[in-house]
Amino acid sequence: MVNTKINLCGITIDNPIIPASGCFGYGKEFSEFYDINMLGTFSFKGTTKEPRFGNPTPRIAETPSGMINSVGLQNPGVDTVISRELKEMPKYFNKKVMANISGFSQEEYVYCVERISREDQVGWVEVNISCPNVHGGGMSFGVNPDSAYEITKAVKEISLKPVIIKLSPNVTDIAAIAKACESAGADGISLINTVLSMRIDIAKRKPVLANTFGGLSGSCVLPIALRMVYQVYNAVKIPIIGMGGVTTAKDVIEMMMAGATAVQVGAANLVNPYACKEIIEELPIIMEKYKINSLEEIIGGAH
Ligand code: SIN
Repeated sequence: MVNTKINLCGITIDNPIIPASGCFGYGKEFSEFYDINMLGTFSFKGTTKEPRFGNPTPRIAETPSGMINSVGLQNPGVDTVISRELKEMPKYFNKKVMANISGFSQEEYVYCVERISREDQVGWVEVNISCPNVHGGGMSFGVNPDSAYEITKAVKEISLKPVIIKLSPNVTDIAAIAKACESAGADGISLINTVLSMRIDIAKRKPVLANTFGGLSGSCVLPIALRMVYQVYNAVKIPIIGMGGVTTAKDVIEMMMAGATAVQVGAANLVNPYACKEIIEELPIIMEKYKINSLEEIIGGAH
């Protein structure tokens, strides 16, 4: 009998599989397909202080082995997430959830983290300093070590739960940014958010996305994500959540060998709503095949 349990920032979860923010809503729709209590946890849709309608459409473009999104952090705002989504969540999910927070200023991050981290069902706060689809916020905080340090320090001071900082791949030195977050007190790092990209409609001679650029995800980005998780594992001691193009149980093993303690699955859920269920069911079979008794023993195993 193999052991799929892992410890993520002080909380033991049944397996390392976590649907990624933005690809799983608040879990309710997916709970109509299968019992989502089989997940390690899930990261809910990026939440801001005020409600946001998101970017103009079109905001999705398909691409070989992936997709580009420019959603623009559509969400009902932190107060409604607390009063509506988190209130309803125990009816269909009885584990700790990961709260994903975004913002346009340090004050906004602090406002959201302070409120959301008080909620019982919130086990971890994932702070997104890497959204490529909004101006004056999101990724602009995550592309240099100084601003990443400042946001991390500010949210750590008020968070009642472990803080995981979500990083952007759209940088030259991801290890330096991860180190800055660790030295500001981050409990964990998650990476990668989407890769800045675009498509052009050749009949209209215009970008496909109304916002021109968006973030690329899907299996085409897996090798980029693996490279960055590998680099960050060499740079920090705190746990890493690896994500980017994970579609199969073998991808999960690869991500963990690169250095991830847990693994988020994003775009795959949009292609196949059962993607995480299938990965969790396949994981023990792949572990037996490769003679892995416990997942914790393979973290960083490729170094
Ligand atoms: C979005 O809502 O634009 C996606 C969030 C992200 O990529 O951080």
